[in-house]
Amino acid sequence: MNIRSVIRGVGAYLPERVLSNDELSKTVDTSDEWIRQRTGIARRHIAAANETTTDLACSAALRALEHAGISVDEIDLVILATTTPDNTFPATATRVQARLGITAGPAFDIQAVCTGFIYALTQADNMIRLGQAKCALVIGAEIYSRILDWEDRGTCVLFGDGAGAVVLKAENGNGAEAGRGVLSTTLGADGRYYDSLYVDGGPATTGTAGFVRMQGKEVFKHAVERMSSLVAGLLEDQGLTTDDLNWLVPHQANVRIINKVGEKLNVAPEKVIISVEEHANTSAATIPLAMNHAVERQLFKPGDLLGLTAMGGGFTWGAALIRW
Ligand code: ACO
Repeated sequence: MNIRSVIRGVGAYLPERVLSNDELSKTVDTSDEWIRQRTGIARRHIAAANETTTDLACSAALRALEHAGISVDEIDLVILATTTPDNTFPATATRVQARLGITAGPAFDIQAVCTGFIYALTQADNMIRLGQAKCALVIGAEIYSRILDWEDRGTCVLFGDGAGAVVLKAENGNGAEAGRGVLSTTLGADGRYYDSLYVDGGPATTGTAGFVRMQGKEVFKHAVERMSSLVAGLLEDQGLTTDDLNWLVPHQANVRIINKVGEKLNVAPEKVIISVEEHANTSAATIPLAMNHAVERQLFKPGDLLGLTAMGGGFTWGAALIRW
């Protein structure tokens, strides 16, 4: 018997406050037309002043647990991917764990910026397959509005706040490619690109949280190359082709990046999940938000093959193949 990690539930949460492109263009020199045309983003959600990353993460996690029909008593691993933790330490995941009433197993944060969810999913999948956990909450939650320079139109129009979560459960299978669950994952990083996308603060440098700084064109180029080649590589390793792929679930940064990734992989546009219009780039939260978008529309059918792919600051990158 082989153990597989199966996604049993998906949940998401977006803060109530919606900031449209038109509203944003009243405070910064931009326009709805520019933002839509260059990014496909129509609006973003902004956390209330008293909302924390823990709040967003817990709301998404509770919805994922409800969708899975699994009680918190079964959870023995909490991994939270975030770039915007509540405090420098302890890990925000421990706060989420306590708030949800979970007492079993480890709880920790993962910092891989926009690739954070794939890093967290990979870690949870590996621990489950090693028998170190049986049922994991894997969450991506971010409050980017607090690390944006709202006077920098090159970055502030791109991001938003939100959270998404999945419940990942150990299930026995024969390891066949047709079996449900995470089939394979891949991760990577190249720290030589540190300065291409970073936050200009931190506890060991400025003592402040800092603001997002980005070389947009360089990020764009790398994102397209990496996100497409990762999925192609995973498919090849499994003896599969893009024809076998039912759904591409890419990191939701920019519709132009997403479309180019789809084109490079030769995946039909109707097989590509896009939700960035509704929430902008929520970094580690975008992939579970996109999955939730698809689940709400009942797009994924049992047996469907999903390709998840992301790239982010560091640079970091990662992808996963999942049988639904
Ligand atoms: N509104 C209006 N004009 C703007 C804005 C704005 N918000 N931002 C920049 N401009 C202007 C620039 O000043 C420039 O003006 P100029 O020609 O007079 O100098 C013009 O628009 C073109 O700017 P570019 O930077 O060349 O625009 P580009 O077509 O490269 O689009 C963008 C910029 C959208 C940031 C693009 O580079 C991009 O999407 N990059 C990827 C970035 C990304 O998604 N990052 C997210 C984090 S990483 C990840 O998630 C993968």
